[in-house]
Amino acid sequence: MYSRIAGTGSYLPDQVVTNFDLEKRMDTTDEWIRTRTGIERRHLAAPGQTTVDMAEHAARRAIEAAGVTPAEIDFIVFGTTTPDLVFPNCGTLLQARLGARGCPAFSVETACSGFIYALSIADKFVKAGEAKCALVVGAETLSRITDWNDRNTAVLFGDGAGALVLKPTAEAGILSTHLHSDGEYKDLLYVESGVSRGFEVDPATNKVNIGIKMAGSEVFKVAVTKLGAAVDEALAANGLEKSAVDWLIPHQANIRIIGAMAKRLDLPMEKVILTVQDHGNTSAASVPLALDTGVRDGRIKRGDLLLLEAFGGGFTWGSALVRF
Ligand code: COA
Repeated sequence: MYSRIAGTGSYLPDQVVTNFDLEKRMDTTDEWIRTRTGIERRHLAAPGQTTVDMAEHAARRAIEAAGVTPAEIDFIVFGTTTPDLVFPNCGTLLQARLGARGCPAFSVETACSGFIYALSIADKFVKAGEAKCALVVGAETLSRITDWNDRNTAVLFGDGAGALVLKPTAEAGILSTHLHSDGEYKDLLYVESGVSRGFEVDPATNKVNIGIKMAGSEVFKVAVTKLGAAVDEALAANGLEKSAVDWLIPHQANIRIIGAMAKRLDLPMEKVILTVQDHGNTSAASVPLALDTGVRDGRIKRGDLLLLEAFGGGFTWGSALVRF
């Protein structure tokens, strides 16, 4: 038994902030942002619009594309590090919106790898016969933890949501997933406050300190090394050559990291689903946003071999090799 992707969906909030808009708010330029990251614009959630609000749009689109009803969903796993509430978790909040009452629903908190972790978990439940219609979500409102006074990070992030529905199948499907984590790298990328540790108030601004702290160039180097090993691992585990990959669907953080992965796979950039220019780094939402983009615009076809990969704070990272 395997699991297969039955349908995909995504959602970006209406408000678009371009690099030129950011030029007016901080000491940066469109040229700097585009050449260093590939980002041209990002979408920001409206005031009051939450992670689950966006996830509901993406989930309903994925459910419709899969040709199922919300009531058929029997497993929900939700990748996010920007939850609406401390509890109930976002999976359970989404479950109530969809009316899929009673099934297991939970979130995983592995930053930008949240969707790959969620997909791996759901795949195991479907393969084991314990879920027949699993909803996998990645959604974030990173704008709420972005320090808009820090040009090193503020230009990188955006809000959005993506989702897919997994169903059982006799033929693959998801061929393999590989997950990794190494907490020794915590200081290179982290959020400075949390519930248990406490929220500190900045005496200068009288605001809660909940900004993203990042050593950008160090993150860059580790991401390229770890993701490189992860794509090799995915192919080796399935006895496949690089040439078998039809589409690379990477975490959309930085076009230069993505380019390095494409090079490692000997893939031309035309074989990479690239959306970073349109929404920046949306953390757990970025891989399903890219996947849904490639599916809906017709580039990704049934039978194609997809390599999904992501890297995030922790560090956490992972891959999924998928026959679509
Ligand atoms: N606009 C203009 N200048 C900026 C800037 C901005 N938004 N942000 C930083 N700079 C400046 C720095 O202050 C530095 O100036 P200095 O040389 O006078 O000190 C200069 O640009 C170069 O900074 P550096 O950090 O060396 O640039 P970089 O080439 O490493 O690019 C990142 C910075 C953040 C784009 C890059 O390191 C990166 O993408 N890292 C990975 C981040 C990531 O993917 N994080 C998420 C992982 S899930």
